[in-house]
Amino acid sequence: MNTLTRILVTTVAIGLAASGVARADGTVEVLHWWTSGGEAKAVGELKNAFENQGGKWIDSPIAGGGGDAAMTALRARVVAGNPPTAVQLKGPGIQEWAAEGALNDVDAVAQAESWDGVLPPVLAGIMKYEGKYVAAPVNIHRVDWFWANPEVLAKAGITEMPKTWDEFNAAADKLMAMGITPLAHGGQPWQDATVFEDVVLGVGGADFYRKALVELDQDALTSDTMVKAFDQLRKMRGYVDANFSGRDWNLATAMVMKGEAAFQIMGDWAKGEFLAAGKVPGKDFLCAPTPGNGFVLNSDSFTFFKVSGEDNLKGQQVLASLIMSPGFQETFNLAKGSIPARTDVALDKFDSCAIRSHEDLVAAVASNSLVPSMAHEMAISRSVRGEFLDLVTNFFNSDMSSADAAKMLADAVKRAQ
Ligand code: BGC
Repeated sequence: MNTLTRILVTTVAIGLAASGVARADGTVEVLHWWTSGGEAKAVGELKNAFENQGGKWIDSPIAGGGGDAAMTALRARVVAGNPPTAVQLKGPGIQEWAAEGALNDVDAVAQAESWDGVLPPVLAGIMKYEGKYVAAPVNIHRVDWFWANPEVLAKAGITEMPKTWDEFNAAADKLMAMGITPLAHGGQPWQDATVFEDVVLGVGGADFYRKALVELDQDALTSDTMVKAFDQLRKMRGYVDANFSGRDWNLATAMVMKGEAAFQIMGDWAKGEFLAAGKVPGKDFLCAPTPGNGFVLNSDSFTFFKVSGEDNLKGQQVLASLIMSPGFQETFNLAKGSIPARTDVALDKFDSCAIRSHEDLVAAVASNSLVPSMAHEMAISRSVRGEFLDLVTNFFNSDMSSADAAKMLADAVKRAQ
């Protein structure tokens, strides 16, 4: 070994030891639900980066937007004593699995790389169990977005994105009168719940959202404000096409792309779909927050299940470090439609929707109007969330009154707690 090589090898070894990573390889089996065009592109970035470091990636995708199918598959794998090494998981779900003793921590990597210094405190808290990092966040998704086709809006003389639900209803009525479907929607419980929580934010504001959907306050759940939110949801039901039932979210996004519908209400993974199809924000599609002056937070993260074997354990450490590297956070989020979880990644390459998301996030933190997504498992336990999804879907697909819906929701939540 010549002197230069020796210096290089030593430097690399010290660097890797300092970051808690023994060698840049290892194996990971990754369970995730990123199977749409934009999602597959984004997870492909993670796979490539891991393989480029010499690691072996075993892909375990479980299709199904929102991840409900993936969570069922995960439970079955754990019960069978054969968990995957890395799992896309979030919010209280992280705490639930950690409390079951199912997770390995990646705290050595997190400490060596000072994750506390580069993550928003609200996110760092979600990633930790008993003070140790058990998850690594890849992004910050925003749930409260309208996506729209500008040509379709122009046809109906709609010149601005709606800022209130009344404005949205007025625009939708114009579109209906012209025979255009106002709202592209997929009738699946998690999509119904996505629209519902955005409506709750718009009708009640952030404090009400928090009381009803996070603190599960009975007074808030049975309040007139909640009844009004159901009234607005009932209106939305009138704005979807006849074939909405069961439709996947990305097919609803495609309807907006193709001009078959004007709007979609969906998190910014929808932007990943537009971008994967070569569409340009501001020109081919528009984004604007749904009413409420808040920010409904959803963040994807990976957890590391208890597996044995040197190679698997190494894979977990390497993956955790890679996920949190600034370069990866940029590349991944450019494809996914979200913004980086790290606060120190420059947004120069990001589009106007991402910049808006970042600005609104900062403003929402300052005004205490950042709220966690109930539909996307950031707010409450899986069992209580299940009650919300059941009730909201039943409401959407029946002629249940708003008053009955609020009462039944409050009762169901009480029973599930
Ligand atoms: C996830 C996103 C994903 C979306 C649709 C959300 O819960 O956070 O990453 O793209 O579901 O599958």
